Amino acid sequence: MSTLKTVVVSGNLGSPSKTLALAGQIVEAIRRHAATEAEILQLAELAPVVGPARNPNELGSVGKAALTSIAAADILVAVTPVYKGAYTGLFKHLFDLLDPKALNEKPVILGATGGGDKHALIVEHQLRPLFGFFGAFTVPSGVYAAEQLFDGQRFADPVLLERIEAAARQAVGIALNQTLPATQAA
Ligand SMILES: Cc1cc2nc3c(=O)[nH]c(=O)nc-3n(C[C@H](O)[C@H](O)[C@H](O)COP(=O)(O)O)c2cc1C
Repeated sequence: MSTLKTVVVSGNLGSPSKTLALAGQIVEAIRRHAATEAEILQLAELAPVVGPARNPNELGSVGKAALTSIAAADILVAVTPVYKGAYTGLFKHLFDLLDPKALNEKPVILGATGGGDKHALIVEHQLRPLFGFFGAFTVPSGVYAAEQLFDGQRFADPVLLERIEAAARQAVGIALNQTLPATQAA
């Protein structure tokens, strides 16, 4: 089995981050299904280069490398804290700088953390339409975690863990199928 490249884009602006912890658990789940190398991109670290750029040409080498990694991913994990009922502004800004074709038919796991369950539908109402614009294969199982489920290190809620597992399985299934030769993929 070939090694998959998983890229995480996490919209967290602070550190430590519950959203980043959730992303880590999603990557662990992906690894239970396929060999994968993972790269983590945090807006907390990218903010100084991404924030001021009005178009991709204004990005420095770090920002351009982030866009290249996202486009080259076999699986993208897109996670964000809920801010004012939506993804963080810088999370959206990074994707505003991405080529519209960069995520076409790419398997994408959608995830978010929030202060409670009130905005759990961010995954369906905010994240999924954004990645629909890009023509991505967003997996059906969205992952939403209320911060109350975080024990300081990890999320341990069994229902949430099942969703993480399902999302990982779905994404790996799509990614591996895409690696089949055309004669077998039909
Ligand atoms: C500026 C700001 C706005 C927020 N808005 C919401 C919100 O609208 N709905 C919600 O459920 N939580 C909201 N939260 C709570 C965060 O989504 C929650 O604490 C999240 O788990 C933080 O993730 P992090 O630890 O990765 O930063 C907000 C937090 C901040 C700082």
